[in-house]
Amino acid sequence: MKKKPIILGIETSCDETAVSIIKDTGDHIPKILANVVSSQDKVHKKYGGVVPELAARSHLEKIDIITKKVLKISKIKISQIDAVAATAGPGLIVCLSVGFNFAKALAAALGKPLIAVNHLEGHALSPKLQTKLKYPYLLLLISGGHTQYLSVNGLGRYKRLGTTIDDALGEAFDKTAKILGIRFPGGPKIEIYAKKGNPNRYPLPKPIFNRGGCNLSFAGLKTAIVKVSRTLKTKQDKYDLAASFQKTILEILFKKTKLAINEFKKINKGNQFIIAGGVASNNKIREVLKKVSCDYEMHAIFPNKEFCTDNAAMIAIAGLEKFKKGNFDNLDFSVKPRWPLDPKAAFLKGAGVKL
Ligand code: KG4
Ligand code: ZN
Repeated sequence: MKKKPIILGIETSCDETAVSIIKDTGDHIPKILANVVSSQDKVHKKYGGVVPELAARSHLEKIDIITKKVLKISKIKISQIDAVAATAGPGLIVCLSVGFNFAKALAAALGKPLIAVNHLEGHALSPKLQTKLKYPYLLLLISGGHTQYLSVNGLGRYKRLGTTIDDALGEAFDKTAKILGIRFPGGPKIEIYAKKGNPNRYPLPKPIFNRGGCNLSFAGLKTAIVKVSRTLKTKQDKYDLAASFQKTILEILFKKTKLAINEFKKINKGNQFIIAGGVASNNKIREVLKKVSCDYEMHAIFPNKEFCTDNAAMIAIAGLEKFKKGNFDNLDFSVKPRWPLDPKAAFLKGAGVKL
């Protein structure tokens, strides 16, 4: 019987140092033997955002410790690894370099293939850690650096249907949180605040809402929130603003997703709709996207929350898919801070840059 490949995945594109080991199971979903994520929230908290040099230093300090830890958890000897897959972009160049150079050294020392993974492809394939997917499928990628609707036509084959033309959705959550005095990364806290607030208290703008197509925009929303924030007096006012912000986001996503489904159906027959990336952990967003999917006969699939935010299991699964196709990279492969999934789509700020 042919040996089932074991892949080591490494993720260091931003502020999470993550390593995972997965094993192929043939026809079934792969087995996750170990999956460790070390967040740097504490390192960046006081700066209100990720400081690249500090992030890179922290990756350097932890990468080998975490790799040893996943080997121990998975009870796998390093010589049993069949390939080393690591995020090579998009992301912060100093952070990408730490993980990817570590992967190069490991692959060279073991004499095993090196696989350069696009971080966004990791998010796109992350539901494969739990369920079977059939190409083509519709993807909404909502993270701290990206907001895109894509038709996923196969491994490495993406057609962008829509994107943010300014801020990413996670960035909008984090900026709103910062205005409300919540420390970085504030996205998850906004969801908690919103639960206690009145979503109809503050009417907020929905930029390019009535423009055709499924591009999105969130920068104008931030400006409006700054204005309202000057009038806030009580904690309840803050809850109400968080709730009004989240409600506005839900309305934008509801409408734009309808348009994206229409676009997708014009070119494809698939009915799976994957919602991936850190913001996909938001329960209200999940509810609304389930509803719109149901209305338009699409099947909404959300990765478990641990696979929505940055992790290395998603890098390992993308690596495994590439491994099966013999899609390896040379040791002179350079990291790519900008690496859009659909290289033919016009460049827009939100489309391929992580920060
Ligand atoms: O995918 P991810 O871990 O990193 C990137 O690739 O960017 O996404 C992180 C983003 C942050 O902006 C964070 O605030 C947001 O996801 N986020 C949330 C929630 N959980 C994480 N935003 C809204 N509601 C949440 N529950
Ligand atoms: Zn990410």
